[in-house]
Order: sequence, then structure tokens, then C-alpha cells
Amino acid sequence: MSDDDLTLALELAAAADEVTLRRFRAHDLAVERKPDLTHVTEADRAAEALLRDRLAAARPADAVCGEEFGDTGPARRRWIIDPIDGTANYVRGVPVWATLVALEEDGEVSVGVVSAPALGHTWWAARGRGAFCDGRRIRTSAVTDLADAHLGYAELGAWGRRPGGVDGLLRLAGRCWRSRGFGDFWQHMLVAEGALDVALEPMIAVWDVAAVAVVVTEAGGRFTDLAGEARLDGGDAISSNGHLHQAVLEIVGRR
Ligand code: IPD
Repeated sequence: MSDDDLTLALELAAAADEVTLRRFRAHDLAVERKPDLTHVTEADRAAEALLRDRLAAARPADAVCGEEFGDTGPARRRWIIDPIDGTANYVRGVPVWATLVALEEDGEVSVGVVSAPALGHTWWAARGRGAFCDGRRIRTSAVTDLADAHLGYAELGAWGRRPGGVDGLLRLAGRCWRSRGFGDFWQHMLVAEGALDVALEPMIAVWDVAAVAVVVTEAGGRFTDLAGEARLDGGDAISSNGHLHQAVLEIVGRR
């Protein structure tokens, strides 16, 4: 990873913001359902196409993996992009959505940018260089006791479809100080900033978490799947300040 890669990732996210913000809350926004029944909009496709064009010009040897147009194949360096994380929010006019851009090198994410233009914030991190929000260094919280923990979670319906249903989540919420369903990338950025102490995702893909995970870990936290493995393709995720990670896994983790 070079400084140029971080600069490029920030430029790509800013270029996507111009496309997505222009169509946010447009009355004639074209929305479709994908085979998995999730939404895709013209803005998702336009933003990802733009990022792919820019990457083809700037980094022709690198692979690209994106939510809407797939993976261009194995390579030592791979850009992992989600043109709009929180498409369901975008479609309904909720301002919690972001473009996620990550660079993975030799299987490890080295750069992550999370740009949420309707919230007016950009978070980024580069491996070994810390995490930032709008240029300000951010750090995870120092909370060590579950009883003081602020818990974020996503999509109760998906929790209900997991083995054990929502029981584990409810048990965990009952042990925490407070719980709120912030969801999507945002809850993990709140963990990175120290506003939340733990955030849980019952169902995710690699493009939902690649950029997010490096921001959380560079802020001092921990990011794993619900089996406790530091992998991004496990299908679910937990981010935390690190101190509470094991205690949370013992209650809601996959064994
Ligand atoms: C969604 C979000 C959400 C997760 C969903 C994803 P998308 O991503 O990341 O947090 O719970 O499973 O589909 O589709 O809006 O990019």
C-alpha cells in the first residue's frame, strides 16, 4: 500500500458521492429487486461502473470485487467496493448509506474508506496508520463491563432466521446498558468512534465489511465473524472495542 492508494480510495469515494447524492430522494429513481430480493438502484450501478472505469485506468493490474458486477478474478491486489451500503435506507430516503472502498493486498485489507455524504462524514484508515473521521483521529471506547456497554445491531428478521433465533441477541441486550438498531456500516463507524462499544451483523458479504473492518481495527477495536475468526467472508460480523469481544461471543457467537 502506498500513500497513492489511500489518496485514490478517497478520490474514488468522492466521485461515487457525486453520483449517489445527486439521485438521493429523486422521485424518479429506478429501483429493482435482485434475485436475493434485496434492492438495487440505478445509482448503485452507476456508482460501481464509475469506480470500475477509474480503477481500470489508474490500477489496470488490480482485480475488482463489487456488489453489483462481481469479481474480476484472483490477483495479489484487489479493490473491494460497495457502491451503496444501506441501499434499503437510500431507497426509503434515510440518510444512513455510504460508499465503501477497500484495497486488499495478499488477503489482508490495507486501506478502507467509508463515505456517507448524506450524513456529511468520511471515515478512513490505512493499516498501521490509525483511523480517522473527517481528518480527526478516532479511537474505540475503554468500556470493559457489559453492564456499561452500548450495543448496536442490524436486521432483527435476519437474527430470527439464525439457529437460536433472536434469543441470544435478547439475552445480550439484557446484559448491556443500552441497545439500538443503527445497522449497516454506521454502527461499525460508531464503534470506531467510541460511541458504541459493540455492533452485530447477522448477515453480510465481503463488500459490506472490508472497508469497515480496517477502520474499526485501526481505531483500536476488533472485527471478526460470529465464530470469532478474523475473516471477512464468514457471512456475519461483530465489531467491538476489543475489551468486550470475547464476552459477546460467549453469548451470541457461533460455535
Ligand atoms: C446491506 C448492509 C446491511 C446488511 C445487509 C446488506 P447493501 O448491504 O450491509 O448491514 O445487514 O445484509 O445487504 O445491500 O445495502 O449494500
